[in-house]
Amino acid sequence: MSTIEQAAKALIAGKLVALPTETVYGLGADASNETAVGRIFEVKNRPKDHPLIVHVANVSDVDFWASEFPDYAKKLAEKFWPGPMTLILPRSENAKDFITGAQESVGLRIPKHPVAQDLLQAFSYLGGRGVAAPSANRFGQLSPTDAAAVKVELGESLGSEDIILDGGLSDVGIESTIIDCTGTNPAVLRAGFISPQQIEQVTGLQVVESTSGVRVSGALKKHYSPRTPLQLGGEAKAGEGLIALASFPTPIGVVRLASPSTSEEFAHLLYQSLRKADELGLSKVVVIPPQGDHLADAILDRLTKAAAK
Ligand code: TXA
Ligand code: MG
Repeated sequence: MSTIEQAAKALIAGKLVALPTETVYGLGADASNETAVGRIFEVKNRPKDHPLIVHVANVSDVDFWASEFPDYAKKLAEKFWPGPMTLILPRSENAKDFITGAQESVGLRIPKHPVAQDLLQAFSYLGGRGVAAPSANRFGQLSPTDAAAVKVELGESLGSEDIILDGGLSDVGIESTIIDCTGTNPAVLRAGFISPQQIEQVTGLQVVESTSGVRVSGALKKHYSPRTPLQLGGEAKAGEGLIALASFPTPIGVVRLASPSTSEEFAHLLYQSLRKADELGLSKVVVIPPQGDHLADAILDRLTKAAAK
């Protein structure tokens, strides 16, 4: 097992470190090191023009990466960081094209997972300014929510000096809420655990449609996909997999992959359960999404993209 200190030193030395966060696992590199960041794109097979989120230890680091930090964005940071939220802000000269995909904005996040927190603090102590980390999966695939899933996704492509930190199963289980704060009002670019209602409450501003034209890879039609064909709604037949709320019965012969009781638990178990379908080599997995609350909307967003052809 690698210690946090070894992992922080590896980042400074330009190596990759996969790290647990409370949303999903990230594949981290020193956000100031172009060569190291370049390896993230190679390992993930990700198009170069897709921007990366920079993870920082403290709110005071925002000023290094961003040229402006509007009051409403500060309110969001105060309320929801550390946590499952990414803020898009106008970039400073330190956020180079290889981080932002040559856009004039930068994505920033302070994660809450204790291992991520400790790593970012140790990295900061060694002089690091931020860790660029996309989800630790190959491009278009499911985000990993535990260390074993990172190994399945990227193990073969990582070098002997790269590190995978194990922090157990991610709490939230789906990717962070991304909020565009480059306009006069906040705009949600990717739904997540933090809801538009919460954003409006904290900022006192209306959440609007984004007009900045920023590229979000999660906005592609097909994304977040398991290898097993996924069917949204309908009936599961014998031999197929099923993910649904606990109140939903399991037809005879169907492989029940998860029975969460709430939307929170649904999000927490979703990606892990879809991976189980892959491991079992099922011909299909049927998912009956939860309904009626904000997190259910975020789950449906992911499932719609996972089911897209
Ligand atoms: O929960 C998460 O956000 C995880 C953990 C590891 O922090 N990270 C994650 O990263 O999901 P990734 O790269 O898989 O998805 C981040 C999304 C991408 O769709 C990217 O296009 C978008 O954030 N993004 C990053 N910087 C951006 C920017 N400056 N403007 C618009 N979108 C941006
Ligand atoms: Mg991703």
